[in-house]
Amino acid sequence: MTESLKSKELLELDKKYVIRGWPAKPIVVVDGEGAIFRDIEGKEYIDFFSQSAGVTLLGHRHPKLVEAVKAQAEKIMHVFTGFITEERITLAKKLSEIAPGKMRNNIHTFFSSGGSESVETALKYAMLKTGKREVIGLWMAYHGATLATMTLVGQAPRRLGLPSFPGFHLIPCAYCYRCWFGKDPDTCDLECARQLEYEIRYGTSGDVAAFIAEPILGAGGHQHPPRNEYWKIIKETCDKYGVLLIIDEVQTGLGRTGRIWASELFEIEPDILVSSKSLGSGMPLGATMVKSDLMEDQWLSRQWHVYTYGGSPIALAAGIAVINTILEEKLWERAERLGNKLRKRLQEMMESHPLIGDIRGAGIFLGVELVKDRKTKKPAIEEAEKVQARCLEKGLWFGVNLYPGWGNTLKLKPPLVITDEQVDKAMDILDETLGEVEEQMH
Ligand SMILES: Cc1ncc(COP(=O)(O)O)c(C=O)c1O
Repeated sequence: MTESLKSKELLELDKKYVIRGWPAKPIVVVDGEGAIFRDIEGKEYIDFFSQSAGVTLLGHRHPKLVEAVKAQAEKIMHVFTGFITEERITLAKKLSEIAPGKMRNNIHTFFSSGGSESVETALKYAMLKTGKREVIGLWMAYHGATLATMTLVGQAPRRLGLPSFPGFHLIPCAYCYRCWFGKDPDTCDLECARQLEYEIRYGTSGDVAAFIAEPILGAGGHQHPPRNEYWKIIKETCDKYGVLLIIDEVQTGLGRTGRIWASELFEIEPDILVSSKSLGSGMPLGATMVKSDLMEDQWLSRQWHVYTYGGSPIALAAGIAVINTILEEKLWERAERLGNKLRKRLQEMMESHPLIGDIRGAGIFLGVELVKDRKTKKPAIEEAEKVQARCLEKGLWFGVNLYPGWGNTLKLKPPLVITDEQVDKAMDILDETLGEVEEQMH
């Protein structure tokens, strides 16, 4: 990055005044349009991460989104949670109309300001509904940064020395490239799915309220089960033990995987579905969708849960515009087409770049796992960091899985409005950079 006096000054001031929970990248971002964002020097970056793991689904400054937010700001910005607003009803109804599987036209929705809040809502509701207290999640999953959700994030709380939430357990995720059970995904008997029953029976006190999972692990590195039968086993196990199935689609939801919900792609039947990130496409919004058959009047009329800013009218207006745009422009089809193109290019790259060990995911939600050696599969952690840093210098932004993964998977999730030319340019940068880093390795 070329640094002007102004940007140097801002970086210093940031250090002096701002608390960060994430190491700062030395870039002062000022604006963006579509799949491009710009820094204070006027340098352009292709946003292959939609800023934060898939947030800006419609790209930066989408005119329909800007118009909706402006129009709402001119009406009213905040309304007491106990009052009724048309925006809350409209978005809840729209979500019900597009919900996956048996949730279609059969959900009630609670709105909050982000993913962690929405997951907490799901956990709290599952516990209150079932009268049980324990929860099971997956190794390498990510569900948020509050104390309760963090306990469902791999080893993170233990590593930071923070307390773990009591009664929360983790079982092995499906990670076919590095199967924990040494099985081949084509012939395995889905040992990873069967772990749920073992854990309920032998790892808990039998007081399990919910099992929570992402259809494709986002932060963990884009691993997913080898076939849909995994989810059938999970659901049957949940039903057998009276455990609610919470599906966290904070990253996978709303078109990115080639379907509106990854739950449709993988034929998952959630009891509770969680959405955020793309739902506001940049406005703070989260939704916890509960199957209506699980709702009782007491939960609709009693005070059991509130976030002051949850379902702010502006965020809701944004959510309505996001869903209307996805439906009008059939953006999930675009995600599927661009995803196929991207995957093809990555597979071609794999032939000339031994650093690439695995390519996985769906639609434009792809993970590229880097290894030092394809035989040993030793994770190429420093190399992944270098590839990311070098690409950023060249004007391409994407993520790398840190907590709770191994730190060697490039996470590619551009906005659904990215153009074919931008995809090509991004892949040219990645291709060239992989070559440079490989050269340094030898
Ligand atoms: C799958 C998943 N669930 C929950 C969250 C938490 O969302 P937030 O950071 O908005 O609280 C995230 C954030 O990355 C996520 O990826």
